[in-house]
Amino acid sequence: MHGPHILIVGSGSVGRRHARNLATLGCRISCVDPRADRRAELSSEVPTVAGHPHVSEALATHHDLTGVVIGSPPVFHVDQATEALQRGIPVLLEKPISPELQGAVRLERLTETGLAPLLLGYTWRWWEPLRKARDLIEANTIGTLRHVRMVISAHLADWHPWERYQDFFMSSKALGGGALLDESHWIDVMLWLFGRPSWVHADVAKLGQLEIDVDDNVDMSVGYRNGLRVALHLDILGRPHEKTITFLGDHGTLIWRENPNRISVSTETAPGWKDKDFCCERNDMFLAVAREFLDVCARRTSPTCTASDGRRVLEIIEAARTSSSEGRRVSLEGVQLE
Ligand SMILES: NC(=O)c1ccc[n+]([C@@H]2O[C@H](COP(=O)([O-])OP(=O)(O)OC[C@H]3O[C@@H](n4cnc5c(N)ncnc54)[C@H](O)[C@@H]3O)[C@@H](O)[C@H]2O)c1
Repeated sequence: MHGPHILIVGSGSVGRRHARNLATLGCRISCVDPRADRRAELSSEVPTVAGHPHVSEALATHHDLTGVVIGSPPVFHVDQATEALQRGIPVLLEKPISPELQGAVRLERLTETGLAPLLLGYTWRWWEPLRKARDLIEANTIGTLRHVRMVISAHLADWHPWERYQDFFMSSKALGGGALLDESHWIDVMLWLFGRPSWVHADVAKLGQLEIDVDDNVDMSVGYRNGLRVALHLDILGRPHEKTITFLGDHGTLIWRENPNRISVSTETAPGWKDKDFCCERNDMFLAVAREFLDVCARRTSPTCTASDGRRVLEIIEAARTSSSEGRRVSLEGVQLE
């Protein structure tokens, strides 16, 4: 008997990664990409059952699919996920769920009809050091939180060294690129850690000289009803790259960093920094997502990151866009979010 049959839609960077991981976990892989060279590249890394230029053709051809993984540019996410779900096939959808709130709401409603489960790939939720940071904060290690500063910075030209950044979907508004949408991981992490905020004040801008028609810099100030403030900075301009979250509490400070892979804690009773280093690698979080997806496909578990989580992120994105274009704080109070 064969292993699960997974269709990878979008055979680019993340699609190939999911294909490699799922093949390691015993899956048979088919793939979709309009580009023949991308299909060939994926097939050179993992044995494939078949490759197709279009998702509709692939879905009509294979009647034994266990699941569909969607790693195409964001503008295609909602329609491709809809096509798979309507055939009753579970979906692992890469983030963001859609470039626009409307699409996210549409897909959320479809998942609520129970056709098939959808797992959303806000993969940093599966990153062990961030989970540990969350546990430490919940255990009151640094007391009541007052301020959180998130700094996420990585120069776009470094992301895909094998192609011109100008040709990458990230450079294109029409395909769903830009810092706000693509780095929405960190909006998701904020919601995962603290829940729904009361207001958002944002500046979404193009500051640098990259040849792109999307935003490259986002500064967001977010307020919570309990007084907590989050300052979120996202850019695709910075070198060296940085991912840091600094949590300030009444009794101390906790800093999570991606590089070095570490959590540092300083408290009033134990001043100075106490470091905890981690040895996990970036692919580990994708492997964890792949394992969860196979459990979701087998109906052994329900998705821990859902279309509703993706819609909540899009709500913050829409509020940030409004705030930035109108130059005002946007209240989320009274807005039906849940
Ligand atoms: N969870 C994560 O940490 C993570 C990491 C990387 C990328 N992503 C997400 O995955 C998606 C893809 O990113 P990427 O870096 O792999 O981009 P990519 O450009 O490397 O890959 C996208 C692929 O989709 C193909 N494609 C274009 N139109 C298509 C269509 N209509 N149907 C199927 N395929 C199509 C492109 O030819 C390309 O090969 C984005 O939404 C991105 O945000 C998530």
